Amino acid sequence: MTLGLDARCAELKAAGKDVISLAAGQPDFPGPPEALDAARAFLDGCDGKVRYTPSSGIPELRAAAAAQIEAVTGVHYEPSQVVVTCGAKEAIALAMFALTGPGDEVLVPTPAWLSYQPMAMLADVTTRFLRTASADGFKLKPEQLAAAITPATRVLVLNTPGNPSGAVYTRDELAALAEVLADTDIAVISDEIYWPFVYDGEHCSPASLPGMAERCAVVNGVSKTFSMTGWRVGYVAAPADLAKCIASMKSHTTSNASATAQHAALGALRAGPDYTRKMVAAFARRRALALAALGAMPDVEVAPPGGAFYLFPRVDAYYGGRVSDSISFCEALLDQTGVACVPGAAFQEDSCIRLSYAIADAALAEALDRIAGFLENLRAGAREATA
Ligand SMILES: Cc1ncc(COP(=O)(O)O)c(C=O)c1O
Repeated sequence: MTLGLDARCAELKAAGKDVISLAAGQPDFPGPPEALDAARAFLDGCDGKVRYTPSSGIPELRAAAAAQIEAVTGVHYEPSQVVVTCGAKEAIALAMFALTGPGDEVLVPTPAWLSYQPMAMLADVTTRFLRTASADGFKLKPEQLAAAITPATRVLVLNTPGNPSGAVYTRDELAALAEVLADTDIAVISDEIYWPFVYDGEHCSPASLPGMAERCAVVNGVSKTFSMTGWRVGYVAAPADLAKCIASMKSHTTSNASATAQHAALGALRAGPDYTRKMVAAFARRRALALAALGAMPDVEVAPPGGAFYLFPRVDAYYGGRVSDSISFCEALLDQTGVACVPGAAFQEDSCIRLSYAIADAALAEALDRIAGFLENLRAGAREATA
């Protein structure tokens, strides 16, 4: 969310207003009990000696993460090819730093998660945004990719299922992109942190396509999969040379991810997919609820996205007058109804707003009712202005 909206949300809450936030980028589940048990067992067993771990992570977690990524991608990774990081965010940043240098270009299909570009800026690398259309399900087309490649292009960022759009690339769509990359030395940072949250079709990892594993850094973690955002554990699996470079950067910047958190992540991974399945079932129900409500709102365009836990409806038919873009739309929505959404501008797509459906069904239904009322008021205002 923009800082202004964040501050406004806090102000309204402090003033006792009933604020419903659809802005959160995290599941509303407490996280698997096995994670807490493992963290407690570690603390109980270490006699207060919480020490450095190997900077790339404890061996058991690297092995569990390698196995998890192998299960998702079908690509075999040795534990030595996995680096455990402080959230997926650090994994993406380190991969970016390892793969690029000043003067290089990174291609980022938009709408896109908002940290890719600042990471590229820190590496003194130019971000080239490739705008995708809602009519194409917000997915990059091969001809668009081919036209964007220059001699300076070093990295393509792919994020499936995607934030904010929820777009899920099919195997055929990824194969077409892989074909464009085939004769290049462009690497792919494959951000797959929403991989289990797929409602239509199935998750396909770019690394699973022929010839792609050698150019892919596959990023994953426990933040979304196990609703463990605050523990800050992510990981990246990559070809041996790249993994070594990322491991070296990790060692010389932040050292290991928190020892206790690594044990919690290991507990979650060892517990298996049941907890995540429960979340996916709840999100599928809420997604249907939200899609039905938005679908009934005049002039709101929303294609059912395949995955993640966001909807990214087009609301630009309502721009005009005081509400002139996604930021003023979200500000007015928050002020008038107490519902917080994230402006699409934060993701390079001003025609849309992002709603998270990772909140309780009743609160979600109430928020959608309020949005419908807000739009009705905007339509009434527009009718008056033209009368
Ligand atoms: C697409 C995407 N990638 C990466 C991250 C960062 O994940 P983590 O919290 O594990 O650092 C997020 C968090 O919202 C995200 O949406």
